[in-house]
Amino acid sequence: MKIHNQHYRTIWRDADTVCIIDQTQLPFALVIGRLQTHIQMCHAIRSMQVRGAPLIGAAAAYGMVLGCQQQADDQTLQSVAKQLMATRPTAVNLAWAVQRMLQQLLVIPVAQRAQAAWAFAQTIADEDVVQNMAIGQHGLGLIAAVVTADPDRAVNILTHCNAGWLATVDGGTALAPIYAAHDAGLQVHVWVDETRPRNQGASLTAWELAQHGVPHTVISDNAGGHLMQHGQVDMVIVGADRVTHNGDVCNKIGTYLKALAAYDQRVPFYAAVPTPTIDWQLAQGAAIEIEMRDADEVAYMQGQDEDGQLRRVRVIPHESQALNPAFDVTPARLVTGIITERGVYRPEQLQLAQSNAMEHAQ
Ligand code: MRU
Repeated sequence: MKIHNQHYRTIWRDADTVCIIDQTQLPFALVIGRLQTHIQMCHAIRSMQVRGAPLIGAAAAYGMVLGCQQQADDQTLQSVAKQLMATRPTAVNLAWAVQRMLQQLLVIPVAQRAQAAWAFAQTIADEDVVQNMAIGQHGLGLIAAVVTADPDRAVNILTHCNAGWLATVDGGTALAPIYAAHDAGLQVHVWVDETRPRNQGASLTAWELAQHGVPHTVISDNAGGHLMQHGQVDMVIVGADRVTHNGDVCNKIGTYLKALAAYDQRVPFYAAVPTPTIDWQLAQGAAIEIEMRDADEVAYMQGQDEDGQLRRVRVIPHESQALNPAFDVTPARLVTGIITERGVYRPEQLQLAQSNAMEHAQ
């Protein structure tokens, strides 16, 4: 992804450190963080300096590398893995990446682990980019079909939260088809849900779409249903933090309400996910642990004042309590299709993506 015409990934190695784009500073400042310990990586994931399911998977893999650099015996690695897995519970990519790193590291001599860990983490990061590019191409077909049916206007796509390149190593998931369509010369316009309480849509999705020159409009979280009723949304594409075996989609809080409105208005609703986001062990979304975050994220908002200063302001009465569940589950019956790197699947056919994955692994 290009920022001011320079190519960036969201995470990369520089000598013995891991560099990240600090997403808590966007859209107002581009700040690069340099992490040297797995403790710093745990903090970066928990505080959402890095966020988005595929990116926290890659970040956790690099966290294992940083742990290895300090001490690489079995007991230490198990402890580092446990600390990383405790940072955020909902996105399955995190546990998937940590387990994969552990499996690969524990079978090689301790003295070789640190160097090997860099290569293993790099592979996870590179695979994410390749998967997202393929998601883009599969989703492009869905957008192109709308253009073919009505070529004289832009295709309006609504998205929730940030499932763009900032949520991945590069390329994005939900935004990958949009970038592919824009780059292919198709007219697209994106409705960007602000995504309270942390405003990933308003702060991150809007910023990265602007960097890429994709026409978009930020809307309040409550506007989507109204726009669908008035024929202004051709499709919804969201990302996911975990998709279960039956096609239930767990994503940022508020996604379920968008899916309900889309179902009522017969607007196609797609989730774009790389296969590491699919939890084949879980039969249904009801079993997913939903992260409860600090109530202050609801009670306060952050923004830039007219003097360019970042400010945090309280938006609820001091006497009121707040509750902050970070994700919800959209049942498979509301989902039109799941766009993976292996193709687009109806939720009830999702297991085909698993068999394709297994063929691929052999
Ligand atoms: O809490 P966040 O910002 O990590 O949540 C991110 C989302 O819900 C994304 O939609 C999801 O991770 C998909 S990322 C490609």
